[in-house]
Amino acid sequence: MLSNTLIEAIKAGAAELQKFFTGDFKISSKEGINNLVTEADHASETAILKVIKENFPGHHILSEEIGEIVQDSTYKWIIDPIDGTVNFAHGIPICCVSIGIEKDGEMVMGAVHAPYLNELFFAEKGKGSTMNDKPIRVSNQVKVLNSCLVTGFPYTYLDMPNGPLEIFQKLIREGIPVRRLGSAAIDLCWVACGRFDGFYEHKLEAWDSAAGYLIVEEAGGKVTDFQGKKFSPYQHRILATNGKIHEEMLRWINNEL
Ligand code: IPD
Ligand code: CA
Ligand code: CA
Repeated sequence: MLSNTLIEAIKAGAAELQKFFTGDFKISSKEGINNLVTEADHASETAILKVIKENFPGHHILSEEIGEIVQDSTYKWIIDPIDGTVNFAHGIPICCVSIGIEKDGEMVMGAVHAPYLNELFFAEKGKGSTMNDKPIRVSNQVKVLNSCLVTGFPYTYLDMPNGPLEIFQKLIREGIPVRRLGSAAIDLCWVACGRFDGFYEHKLEAWDSAAGYLIVEEAGGKVTDFQGKKFSPYQHRILATNGKIHEEMLRWINNEL
């Protein structure tokens, strides 16, 4: 029942993205100059919430554009109606809908649907991860020097020692490929299915990572903060890898190499 509703909700959101992909939608700015929200973000969110409310009216909801719908429930749905909005607004098909479900504070189910790529990722705690219903696994790469990595940058520049640009520069100077797709949820799913060996980012919100981090873990990967501690979607920093390059990636990120 829970998984059926999750899939129905994510497909309803994704259908809105497809309707608007003609490029005919209103765009507004949020905090920062290029932090966008489009009419499609709101339409996707409305469609998702309708499905959840019809099936589980008592569940708590945290959704990027409307915020929290507080309910006294052990279940919490964490929703990003479009992850990769800047891509979406520019007609770049690397964007998706992401929904994670927490029960008693633990992520138990997640789905990420990239409709233009025709990829639907799903994970349930303890039951593995799938892409379009086929099981997926992380890669077997053991060395960062031979890895293909992905990262993202915050909307506003983070001026801090060993910040996003410093780490990026260090890896690039060594000749390590580091991609930047513009959708954290897709970055995570592509670690889960072995396309990337690792993903790190400094400033994600719960709706960016909630579903994707479970999908990586259930595909055999490892997800932590930059100290190597257990990941929580309510803090900003994330390192998600195939597990085999995790310790080495922590040393690169913390400037210990
Ligand atoms: C953004 C994307 C991007 C990441 C940003 C997020 P949005 O989400 O996931 O990859 O670098 O930090 O805010 O705004 O497209 O939902
Ligand atoms: Ca997002
Ligand atoms: Ca979003």
